[in-house]
Amino acid sequence: EQDILNKLPLKDKTVLITAGPTYEAIDPVRFIGNHSSGKMGFEIAKVAANLGAQVVLVSGPTHESLNHALVTVVPVVSAQNMYDEVHKYFEACDIAILSAAVADFTPKEVAVQKIKKASDTLIIELSKTKDILASLGAIKTKQYLVGFALETNNELKHAKEKLKKKNLNLIVLNSLNDKGAGFKTDTNKVTFIDDQEVVTAHQLKSKTEVASDLLNKIMLEINA
Ligand code: CTP
Ligand code: CA
Repeated sequence: EQDILNKLPLKDKTVLITAGPTYEAIDPVRFIGNHSSGKMGFEIAKVAANLGAQVVLVSGPTHESLNHALVTVVPVVSAQNMYDEVHKYFEACDIAILSAAVADFTPKEVAVQKIKKASDTLIIELSKTKDILASLGAIKTKQYLVGFALETNNELKHAKEKLKKKNLNLIVLNSLNDKGAGFKTDTNKVTFIDDQEVVTAHQLKSKTEVASDLLNKIMLEINA
């Protein structure tokens, strides 16, 4: 038994992962959301657990599911819910990987009743959500912190800026320009940029392979 356990390189590690979209309520029956499927985060969770890690997966609404003895799924709805749950688990984790497509804005007020189509136009005022990733960068101690960056132009420049600004150890640049890369597909084309500014561009791959590449890179960096 000891031999088998020793082959699991992340057996002593706790990994916190965010996945999926967030839904921001407009009224009791409507919300602002996005097309994130949650697949990337769920694949990362699966691979991490198969490497022996204890995984906490905080996920927005998704069709994905995961039954694994080492994975605890924490379902959330809004950006604020996700912020609260992530902060409950962050201090105890060794690695945090934030792949969720968190809403940047949320309705300033949620209408108590269903909004009627009384007028020809409707203005909904939005206010900025808390940046979960940046909030972790500001308080991290031992944790290896990984963010994602979704960019459509000046990709490397923008991703490097996010890496610095949010105090990350690694950023995964996700290019939406490439066919087969992104939100609803089973494949992704990513580039890793670490805190030494080492840039590694990967080919279009399945999200499972991208998850393996990512955890291999992290294990290399933390000597696991
Ligand atoms: N993120 C987060 N909380 C938010 C917004 C984003 O934790 N409120 C995280 C995402 O999970 C991702 C990273 O920040 O890991 C980058 O998200 P992205 O949308 O690419 O960048 P933003 O910082 O939100 O900036 P912008 O959308 O303006 O490019
Ligand atoms: Ca954003």
